[in-house]
Amino acid sequence: MIKNLFCTITLLLQFTLLAEPLIVAHRGASKQAPENTLPAFELAWKQGADAIEADFRLSKDGHLVCIHDANTKKTGNKNLTIVKSTLSELKKIDVGLFKGEQFKGTRIPTIEEVFATIPKGKKIFIEIKSGPETVDPLLKAIKLSSLQPEQIAVIGFKEKILLDVKKKAPHLYTSWLCSLKKDKRGKMKPSLDSILKTIKSCQIDGFSSSYNQLNQEIIQSLKKQGTDCHVWTINDARHAKKFINWKIDSITTDLPDKINLKLMQAK
Ligand code: G3P
Ligand code: CA
Repeated sequence: MIKNLFCTITLLLQFTLLAEPLIVAHRGASKQAPENTLPAFELAWKQGADAIEADFRLSKDGHLVCIHDANTKKTGNKNLTIVKSTLSELKKIDVGLFKGEQFKGTRIPTIEEVFATIPKGKKIFIEIKSGPETVDPLLKAIKLSSLQPEQIAVIGFKEKILLDVKKKAPHLYTSWLCSLKKDKRGKMKPSLDSILKTIKSCQIDGFSSSYNQLNQEIIQSLKKQGTDCHVWTINDARHAKKFINWKIDSITTDLPDKINLKLMQAK
């Protein structure tokens, strides 16, 4: 209990004492390079991103591979379903060509390959795209890596998976991705009350939602409860400025360079 409390306080301090929001490169610098690939992550670091965001799924033979969709239809030159394919089958797919001839030959990276790009002091937001079976291989990959816990945030839409991560690795920061919808009467779903309850019951450190769904009231309520607040996916500096004024903790963007530049000019 005391150990968990200590972990929580340390984790929150690591993320909230920063004066400016972290700039998180969404699937890497994905406007200019093929999403969730090494060229996109390398470009994000070159452009000065504080963190990268990357999506992970389990292959048929238990490897964590970096890809958003459940298959390679959108980004690959051949369509394979990730969960039904082995790593060696997936490695044959070209996931660069769809973005331009200059990226021809780019392959789906494994989590180990993505980790290897992360410079000292920079962070990764690891999004779990597949089910609860992802947790153990993920924790193993983190343990075998040279990353420090403060470099890692585990994120996902399924709060129960985040609870499992927290139970097995209380030293890791978790953040819940939540789509905020409106019901027929215009009431927000899930309600703010149920969001706050879920965060407490699943021992979640941060909350994240889309820039066109998140508002100041939600951010303030979360912060009052001691929960960090993150926003995705902002590619326009005007939106970025609004969220900076609202004391957002991180901004996820496809254009880490542009957002960084505008933030600097705004000083
Ligand atoms: O960082 C949150 C964001 O990545 C969630 O949406 O669909 O891009 O994975 P998606
Ligand atoms: Ca994602």
